[in-house]
Amino acid sequence: MSSQNIYILGIESSCDDTAASIIYNGRILSNVIASQKIHEEYGGVVPELASRAHQQNIVPVVHQALEKASITKDELHAIAFTKGPGLMGSLLVGTSFAKSLAYGLNIPLIDVNHMQGHILAHYIDEDGYKKPPFPFLAMTISGGHTQIVKVDHYFDMTVIGETIDDAVGEAFDKSGKILGLGYPAGPEIDKRAALGNPKAFKFTKPKVDGLNFSFSGFKTAVLYFIQREVKANPNFIEENLNDICASIQYTIIGILMDKLKLATKQTGINHIAIGGGVSANSGIRKALKDGEQKFGWTTYIPKFEFTTDNAAMIAIVGYLKFLDGDFAEQNVVASARLKI
Ligand code: KG4
Ligand code: ZN
Repeated sequence: MSSQNIYILGIESSCDDTAASIIYNGRILSNVIASQKIHEEYGGVVPELASRAHQQNIVPVVHQALEKASITKDELHAIAFTKGPGLMGSLLVGTSFAKSLAYGLNIPLIDVNHMQGHILAHYIDEDGYKKPPFPFLAMTISGGHTQIVKVDHYFDMTVIGETIDDAVGEAFDKSGKILGLGYPAGPEIDKRAALGNPKAFKFTKPKVDGLNFSFSGFKTAVLYFIQREVKANPNFIEENLNDICASIQYTIIGILMDKLKLATKQTGINHIAIGGGVSANSGIRKALKDGEQKFGWTTYIPKFEFTTDNAAMIAIVGYLKFLDGDFAEQNVVASARLKI
């Protein structure tokens, strides 16, 4: 079979987004996502509700992905799915569906590590997008993950730093909850931060050795600070919301940039690619761009739709594995704690 004419379906269901994408060689033809609104009222993802919603959404989402790509399922060459890491009940829906479809169509099945997906999303063919050269550092920052990975080749990656507790997105979302903002709070903190003074309030950065991160202490510091201030002035939050948001964001960016600086120093690698929902943050983007001037970094930020949880990133990994002939057996199982 020629490697020039390959259609692959990617399926992502690791958390609260049910997603399907068709990739034709390295190009994305469709990228469909059903985000689950149900979790907003709970202020976080409820695993039981997530798997039920995946079960409802999976067939329509795959159907739409095929339709938008203007192909039929019989034209597919393989099916790639997220094996892990993620919520078990959510992963099982995508895994079982992918297996059945691949079995029915008698085509190969490809298992994909979600974290590798976030990183290899940078290799999707996009006009005008420059792909990072090997080796590079990938920082994946989202509601579920915070990692710095040294990437020597597509499937030769080493995690050199990661959070020991909360993810950075949780630091945004939990701080937002303390301030009475909706879920997820990251985007609103970002907007308000642009209008506030980042040095209005000072939060100490957690001390964690090496390249690892910790955000649970930060969240507690925000909580105690707010409780103390509100006791003295019940209107403290309303009167200072933009400044509080700016100060929280400033501290979080400082934590991320300190570790990136250390990682570039330790590895001698100055190419930095970021991914995950938090990479939408305008302050983080600016700090990375500033790093290009200040530290000689080259930074890579993919299109937003390829950086939050999506199936295009699963499809590109599927395509790369397809070219290697790296297929999964039909008895493959989802793995909630799958490592890179
Ligand atoms: O990648 P994603 O859509 O899902 C996973 O968590 O895997 O990331 C969602 C996270 C949430 O924590 C949300 O608050 C955060 O990304 N986020 C942001 C921004 N946009 C989304 N955080 C800060 N600034 C933003 N502009
Ligand atoms: Zn993710």
